[in-house]
Amino acid sequence: MIYLDYSATTPVDARVLDAMKPYFSDSFGNPSSVHRYGQQAEAAVDAARETVARILNCRPDEIIFTSCGSESDNLAIRGAAYAMREKNGARWILASRAEHPAVTKTLLQLEKYDGFQIEWLDVNEQGMVTPEVVSRAICEETALVSVMYANNEIGTINPIRDIAEICRARQILFHTDAVQAAAYLSLDVQELGVDMMSLGAHKFYGPKGVGVLYVRKGTPLVPHLTGGGQEFGLRAGTQNVPYIVGFAEALRLTHEEREQRAAHVQPLRDKIIGTVLETIPNSRLTGDMNIRLPHHASFVFKGVDGNLLLTLLDAAGFACSSGSACKTGNPEPSEVMNAIGLEREWGLGSLRVTLGMGTTAEDVESFLAVLPGIVERARLLNHG
Ligand SMILES: Cc1ncc(COP(=O)(O)O)c(C=O)c1O
Repeated sequence: MIYLDYSATTPVDARVLDAMKPYFSDSFGNPSSVHRYGQQAEAAVDAARETVARILNCRPDEIIFTSCGSESDNLAIRGAAYAMREKNGARWILASRAEHPAVTKTLLQLEKYDGFQIEWLDVNEQGMVTPEVVSRAICEETALVSVMYANNEIGTINPIRDIAEICRARQILFHTDAVQAAAYLSLDVQELGVDMMSLGAHKFYGPKGVGVLYVRKGTPLVPHLTGGGQEFGLRAGTQNVPYIVGFAEALRLTHEEREQRAAHVQPLRDKIIGTVLETIPNSRLTGDMNIRLPHHASFVFKGVDGNLLLTLLDAAGFACSSGSACKTGNPEPSEVMNAIGLEREWGLGSLRVTLGMGTTAEDVESFLAVLPGIVERARLLNHG
């Protein structure tokens, strides 16, 4: 079996696992306890926080550990929405049409149950939110703007610095979901100019079930998980010490090895994109040709059922994805396919191929050798 779904998740790096292990058994204390066991656990969480802060170029007390990228998105959006409404009555939230469900569903709930108004920002055909679109929509009533750093389904990278600058000039809070971007792009929050940024460790060879929300000092935020005073009162619950240690170690290694990892995957990705577009009739690249994550290739095939294509690929020994993993099983084109303006007969046939440290040139060769035949079969079965 060949794994080509690194945007869905990555295996835990052996070095990360080694760093985590002592905190399951030997150093098992609760970081809030006063005694030495507690102190040891607290020291591990503090060290992890400092490592993450160094890489994000921020203060350690601006790093909030959470249980996943989705929770970070929830905390940022709910927390800022409630806080801004309390502060100045703002009820308007701007977000792109191509966001992950962790953002869109949170916003839909705020609209349904809390009276917020959401303005969905159009993306261009490459799935990008342009600064002009944000400029036009932003106003004094805006409580928050949320635009993802890089798209999970189509790999397009958004102009986050420019969007952040527009928000800053109008003194409007700006959140970015950087869950997909973290494996390959700079996370320097001063350079990016963001107020809040969500991350999840399992996209960069860390464990599942641990995330971070960066919160710029002074950003008003109402916690949504209430209880103890952990994480500066912004996220209650005894910290998951081994996973937090794993998060920091995975991010440290990613930061150190980012360039070599990108240099490994990018030519393989380019080979996939070039060959697919050349050899498969009625195929299109989704997302931007150049401004995209270096490990990410995504396509649509006209008249193909994406889920059937995945099943056939799985049977042939290849693990890929159609849109985001959360969409699998849904017979409608994803919101992202709709947002980039694809007609249904194209949008239903999406395929995402994402590479990683374990991908070899031979893997790519054997994938490309079988893909055209499998797409053809999927097309025939769909029409049969
Ligand atoms: C862009 C984006 N945001 C958020 C998430 C959710 O992250 P997690 O699985 O850590 O909750 C994902 C995961 O696929 C993602 O791709």
